Amino acid sequence: MKLLVTGGAGFIGSFLSEALISAGHSVVSLDDLSTGSDKNLINLTGKPGYTFVNGTMMDENLVRDLMADVDGVFHLGAALGVKRILERPYESLVTNMHGTEIVLKAAAAKKLRTFLASTSEIYGKNPIQPLTEESDRVLGSPLLVRWTYSEAKAIDESLIQIFHQTHGLPFVTGRFFNTVGPRQTGAYGMVLPGFVTQALAGKPLTVYGDGNQQRVFCHVSDAVDAVMRLFFNDKALGHAFNIGGETEVSIKELAELVIAETGSNSKIEMVSYKDAYPAGFAETMRRIPNTTKVREFTGWAPKYSLKAIIADVAAHLKA
Ligand SMILES: NC(=O)c1ccc[n+]([C@@H]2O[C@H](COP(=O)([O-])OP(=O)(O)OC[C@H]3O[C@@H](n4cnc5c(N)ncnc54)[C@H](O)[C@@H]3O)[C@@H](O)[C@H]2O)c1
Repeated sequence: MKLLVTGGAGFIGSFLSEALISAGHSVVSLDDLSTGSDKNLINLTGKPGYTFVNGTMMDENLVRDLMADVDGVFHLGAALGVKRILERPYESLVTNMHGTEIVLKAAAAKKLRTFLASTSEIYGKNPIQPLTEESDRVLGSPLLVRWTYSEAKAIDESLIQIFHQTHGLPFVTGRFFNTVGPRQTGAYGMVLPGFVTQALAGKPLTVYGDGNQQRVFCHVSDAVDAVMRLFFNDKALGHAFNIGGETEVSIKELAELVIAETGSNSKIEMVSYKDAYPAGFAETMRRIPNTTKVREFTGWAPKYSLKAIIADVAAHLKA
């Protein structure tokens, strides 16, 4: 198939593009390089079947033109990272709502099979864990900018569902839970690349709040494997799936593990949220995926342990 990947120069989008090319598909990648990078395309540039388009999904004509010539769409383009959302709230909200509307509308007009990248953030701070796909959304005040990412992504999910009903758009939605691995940048508030960079530099690892926030990390190769299995599976169409790892860990434990695995002499430094983030931040203390649905539909299971993930991120950052 010939497939469009929005956000294709991003962290997950670049690995997904590589997997699609390896599987024999052609890929057209659309990215404005706002958080993505051409460094992520090093294994793709010049490969037969791969085309990179430096442009924005806000450009309706460009998106429509690209859709004219493809058989399916992976929509990963988005503004994300807690820091980036708080620092550029309006731009992020418009990208995540209107940008997605443009992409989905064009895909619906052609009934193109579409994968929508959603997020565990849509569940907000629901205290009932692990989270299944049917779990409620429990959000804080709309006055806190932090929730706008969750709100936009939830509207995106509603929109794709509506286009499914009105236009027969075949879709599958994947809700990523803390996807990590090589190429992810710590610049927008992602915790693991930040910790590993600090550990390798012998600097203190900065843990925000009390460090008791619980998360589960998933290696990007495992996440991409799940996306591929879902996209090409007719049974998965019309469904949303959690995509996440297995090992629950607190952020403080993660920092300790990073120090141990990298053999670093770094110490841990606790930093208050007030000093870590601009106004508008709120924390979610526990975010644990139930991944039974994706496993039952596709036979998928993650392969990377947390230690293997840390080792891979460290090897990448050292290189
Ligand atoms: N990494 C995670 O843990 C995680 C968790 C939940 C959801 N997601 C979702 O997965 C997708 C990919 O995220 P990622 O981690 O690879 O982040 P990323 O920032 O590396 O990827 C997003 C890409 O979208 C591009 N982009 C942004 N605005 C654009 C626009 N207007 N036009 C074209 N391209 C644009 C960026 O340049 C970037 O390359 C996103 O939709 C994100 O919301 C990721």
